[in-house]
Amino acid sequence: MNDVDRAVEILLNGGLVAIPTETVYGLAALATDEAAVRRIFAVKGRPADHPLIVHIESAASMASWAETVNPSAATLAAACWPGPLTLLVARGERVPDVITGGRPTVGLRVPAHPLTTELLRRLGTGLAAPSANRFGRVSPTTAAHVLADLGDDVDLILDGGPCPIGVESTIVDTTTQPVQILRPGGIPMDAIDALLGGRLASAAGPSRASGMLDSHYAPNCRVELATTGQEAHRLLAQLTDSGACAGIIDGTDNLVAYAQHLYAWLRDADEQCLDTVIAVLPSAEGLGHAIIDRLRKAAFSPSPAD
Ligand code: TXA
Ligand code: MG
Repeated sequence: MNDVDRAVEILLNGGLVAIPTETVYGLAALATDEAAVRRIFAVKGRPADHPLIVHIESAASMASWAETVNPSAATLAAACWPGPLTLLVARGERVPDVITGGRPTVGLRVPAHPLTTELLRRLGTGLAAPSANRFGRVSPTTAAHVLADLGDDVDLILDGGPCPIGVESTIVDTTTQPVQILRPGGIPMDAIDALLGGRLASAAGPSRASGMLDSHYAPNCRVELATTGQEAHRLLAQLTDSGACAGIIDGTDNLVAYAQHLYAWLRDADEQCLDTVIAVLPSAEGLGHAIIDRLRKAAFSPSPAD
C-alpha cells in the first residue's frame, strides 16, 4: 500500500490527511463529510466563521460544487487551473454549511501537485483544506513543518517535498461586479487583471477572508519591517547593541525564491530563538504583493487600545 492508497482509505473513513500543494500544505478532509470537516476546525483552533477552500480535480468538476459558473469564473479557471488561484463562486447545494460558515459563496481551487492530483482523481470528490498550521501561525511548506505544528492530530502527512511557490493562492471573488481580489497570492494580480480585460477591483465592503485579518502568518518572535537592506542592517545594529538577539530576512533580489523560502525563514527565526527578525519588504510588483501582505500580517501587533 503506498501513501496515496493510505490517504484514500483514511479520508474515506473520516480522517484528516495533510496534502502537498504547489503553494503550502493543506489539512484535508472529504468535503462532504461534515464531522471530518469539523475536526479540521478543532485541530487548527480556527473560528467557525472562517470558511475553507474546496480543492477539486479539474475545472470540469467546478459545476458540481457551484450553483452557477459565470463567464469571469470560467475564464480564470480555464487560464489558471491547475494553479495557485482560488475562485469564490455561488455555492452549490452539496457544499455543507460547515465549509462556508453559512455564506452564499464557496472557494474552489484546482491544486497543481502530482500527489494531490492523483489523490483527488482516486477519491472522485473534493477535499476541504485550509493551510495545515494552527490558526494565525506560519503556513507549512514542508512535511516536517506540518509534523512540527500538528503532530498526531493529523492521521497522515502525504510528503510531496517542499512547496514550489511557498505562499498561498490568490483569492478572487467572482460573484461581485466588478470581480474583486481578496488575497494576493501565488498568481500575480496583474495576470488576473489582464485576463479580465482590466476589470479587477480591490476588495471592498466588510472583510470576507480570514487572511484579511490584520494579524496572521506570525512566528513567535517579533517581526520588524525594513524598506531597504541598509535600513535592516541599521536596525540590526541597534537591536544587537541593546542586547537583543536579532536577524535579517532579505530575499528581495529574487521574488520567486523569496516567496518559496519566506515561511521557512520565519520558522528558522523561532528555531534560532531570535527576539526579533527584521524582514526587508520587496517592491510591490508580481509576487511582491503577496510577500508584502504576509510580512505585514506577520509584523502586526495590536496597539494597547485594541
Ligand atoms: O494556497 C492556498 O490557498 C492554501 C492551500 C492549502 O490550498 N489554502 C489556504 O487556505 O490558504 P486557508 O484556509 O489557510 O485560507 C483560505 C482563505 C481564508 O482566509 C478564508 O477565510 C478564505 O480563504 N475563504 C475561503 N472560502 C471563502 C468564502 N466562501 N468567502 C470568503 N472567504 C473565503
Ligand atoms: Mg491559512
